[in-house]
Amino acid sequence: MLKIRALISGLLLASSVSVAYAWEALPEKAPEPANNPGSADKIALGQMLYHDPRLSSTGTVSCSSCHNTMLGGEDNRANSIGVGAQKGGRSAPTVWNAAFNAVQFWDGRAATLEDQAAGPVTNPIEMGMKNWDEVINRLKSIEGYQVAFENAFGSDALTKENATKAIAAYERTLITPNSPYDKYVKGDKSALTEAQVRGMQKVEELGCTSCHSGPAFNGPGAFRKFPMYSNGGIEAQYHFGKDKGLAEVTKKADDDHFWKVPTLRNIALTAPYFHNGSVPTLELAVKVMGKSQLNKDLSNEEISDIVAFLNALTGEFPKQSMPLLPRTPGTTLTPAPL
Ligand code: HEC
Ligand code: HEC
Repeated sequence: MLKIRALISGLLLASSVSVAYAWEALPEKAPEPANNPGSADKIALGQMLYHDPRLSSTGTVSCSSCHNTMLGGEDNRANSIGVGAQKGGRSAPTVWNAAFNAVQFWDGRAATLEDQAAGPVTNPIEMGMKNWDEVINRLKSIEGYQVAFENAFGSDALTKENATKAIAAYERTLITPNSPYDKYVKGDKSALTEAQVRGMQKVEELGCTSCHSGPAFNGPGAFRKFPMYSNGGIEAQYHFGKDKGLAEVTKKADDDHFWKVPTLRNIALTAPYFHNGSVPTLELAVKVMGKSQLNKDLSNEEISDIVAFLNALTGEFPKQSMPLLPRTPGTTLTPAPL
């Protein structure tokens, strides 16, 4: 299946020079599933949970430790740091516009934001809780959470399912429309500089859009091979081959080194780049993409125009205000130092 998909997109790539690419602006609202419509109370609860370090075993790590919503929605580290200063092997993707991903994680192993939100809390190197029962018991001991869950979901509402629904509903508010690119696509031809327009044309001509397509430039839901073209120099420097991506989940050789196509929105804010965070600058990331995905050595002018265009994908960030968290009862919830 993936082979056929790769073949079809290979053909699309070959014809992309002659077919005009349909540029799309980011919608003003993220799509939401029928079984989890957002509401003010649910979003407020989700925001609290998202920013609450008491969801981690040590009481030190929240979602926002690794996906900082005051910044580009991640931590600008190659490897995030979880409980007990442990490091994982992959770089944290941005949570801004994650609502527009058809699948979540670099290897797409979660189908929805709701599914995704269940993972980190009990991941031993991220938030380190033993299991969700422990999380729910801890939240139940905090009276303010009982009230907040009831407001959002009704009675007997303090469950894992509702916690992940609330977090996902909050994440769907983390979207960044109205970038210079969006304004340009909607008709304001003064929104981009000349270099940015040249970069936009290059991105289409070269075929970056054969993978990074759609309003979020994440080829909605597409898994693509990376690197497509092997390059000893790049591999020696960045070690992309170590992690097998989708094949780590499916255990199928056909899926070796397939990755979810990541969004390019706000990409100027989220260095370092790629699944292992091994590439420090956007210029180098574009150079690597040219070589490894298109088998082309991009010139410095091309790289600089493309980077100018990628900077035009930085959107307007909705103002964030920190939530007040429900108070801890008169005892520590995280007694064991780790
Ligand atoms: C210790 C750091 C850390 C913490 C804490 C953490 N994450 Fe992540 N997050 C990551 C990393 C690393 C990945 C990528 C892992 C992978 O793809 O295998 C990720 C992936 C994601 C994704 C997928 C985004 C995409 O584009 O695929 C979302 C959404 C997300 N996290 C939200 C959350 C939420 C919500 C929480 C809190 C419940 C959370 N994260 C806690 C590090 C962290
Ligand atoms: C054949 C598909 C394909 C093509 C063509 C392609 N990309 Fe990518 N791109 C990917 C995949 C897959 C990744 C994720 C790779 C990884 O980190 O495992 C990616 C990652 C990136 C990243 C890093 C994203 C991040 O969050 O770290 C940037 C920047 C990028 N691409 C830009 C471009 C540009 C610019 C072009 C054209 C010169 C291009 N890509 C062409 C598939 C493609």
